Amino acid sequence: MTGVERARLLDRDELRKYFDLRSPLMVLTGGDYTDDPYPIWRELREQAPVHEGTVHGLTGYPGDPFFHGLPFPDRPHFSAFSFAACDEAYRDEELFASSHEAEGPDSAEVGVMSSMLSMGGARHRRFRGLVQPSFVPAKAQWWIMNWIEHTVHMLIDNFVDDGRAELNVDFAAAIPVLTITGSFGVPVEQALVIRQSMSDPPKVIEMLQPIVDARRRDPGDDLMSVLVAAEYEDDEGVTHVLSDAEIYSFAMLLLAAGSGTTWKQMGITLAALLQRPEALAAITADRELLRPAIEESLRWNPTDPMFSRWVTRDVDFHGVHLPRGSVLHLCLGAANHDPERWDDPDEFDIHRALKPTLAFGNGPHICLGMHVARAEMRVGIDALLERLPNLRLDPDAEPPRFIGLYERGTTEIPVVFG
Ligand code: HEM
Repeated sequence: MTGVERARLLDRDELRKYFDLRSPLMVLTGGDYTDDPYPIWRELREQAPVHEGTVHGLTGYPGDPFFHGLPFPDRPHFSAFSFAACDEAYRDEELFASSHEAEGPDSAEVGVMSSMLSMGGARHRRFRGLVQPSFVPAKAQWWIMNWIEHTVHMLIDNFVDDGRAELNVDFAAAIPVLTITGSFGVPVEQALVIRQSMSDPPKVIEMLQPIVDARRRDPGDDLMSVLVAAEYEDDEGVTHVLSDAEIYSFAMLLLAAGSGTTWKQMGITLAALLQRPEALAAITADRELLRPAIEESLRWNPTDPMFSRWVTRDVDFHGVHLPRGSVLHLCLGAANHDPERWDDPDEFDIHRALKPTLAFGNGPHICLGMHVARAEMRVGIDALLERLPNLRLDPDAEPPRFIGLYERGTTEIPVVFG
């Protein structure tokens, strides 16, 4: 099968339905927010590093979004806006827990909230230790050679002869979902079905079960084989393997955490560069600049600018008293624009000296897939620059806009080339 034939197995209309920030589905996370939140976040940070209230409430967003740590209407809510406060909370998982349940999630249940994202302490470390070896920087090449590179070229084959393309959905959205489902052994034509079944665990199980069974019998060189083979020793020295439920929850977490995020961040990076032809020209001439450009996009406009923590005991934190049981929202978007850490923080500058940002979080739950995400963005943008000469925004189409509150991204990225 040629790359074009494989790419056509991916239903573009379906892709558009699930990967469009303007779709009704996205209102849940503030997709209808179309302003620039950064000026308001700057004012809030200048007033105080930590405020009472939610990030969306303090930003003036009228809706009732659903996101990590929300809504929980029966608890007091606080939000941190400075780099120092967010960084400190991220690093202290004992005081600022990732789950509202003291014991963490129930592993027998299947779903994102039963995954390592909500675990804490030794249990989280043990689970993360099992999967981490597949996500370290040295493994980036494994991901690139097995799944990323051919996905990227297959998608470009689909539009290279047209002289124009819409990069936000037909390119940026498709890469991560095909990379992750590919690493599970799911074929292209089922990739979107499984992505769409995210809120329906029995359906995901039905699709993954035959793959898990097959890899248990006959392991291959893919992520699912790593998961079925992973072993850990408990405190009594007894060896355990991951249960099927733990594997399904982890698969769902990867789909949830790894596909929408990388799509939106790649779109943000592409749009920011296309809007600044001098930066794009500099990268085209010197590909070494692509890495810092991606880091700058992550700092300047991180796609998920807020994650939450549950306060485990009464504490005075950066001038505010946080009662036990309250929720502390970490506005990492605001932290990434803290002038204490970056000069001219609102400027997108690919030549900025590199400093760690909070776009991937920090502490024990720092993004497991960050090197995969970076590899997808780098290989994807590099291939576009290689194969689409004179790439530029379509002057006759509506230019990309950045929208969304808790999930930020671009509207569309219409380009012409050649
Ligand atoms: C640009 C793209 C991405 C961004 C901005 C991003 C951001 C984040 C952030 C901020 C967290 C921390 C959440 C918290 O503190 O509660 C996180 C966790 C996580 N991410 Fe990512 N992510 C991206 C891509 C990916 C990819 C590609 C994968 C998988 C292939 C992935 C898998 C995960 C997992 C498994 C966790 C949970 C880690 C844990 O709980 O220990 N992410 N991500």
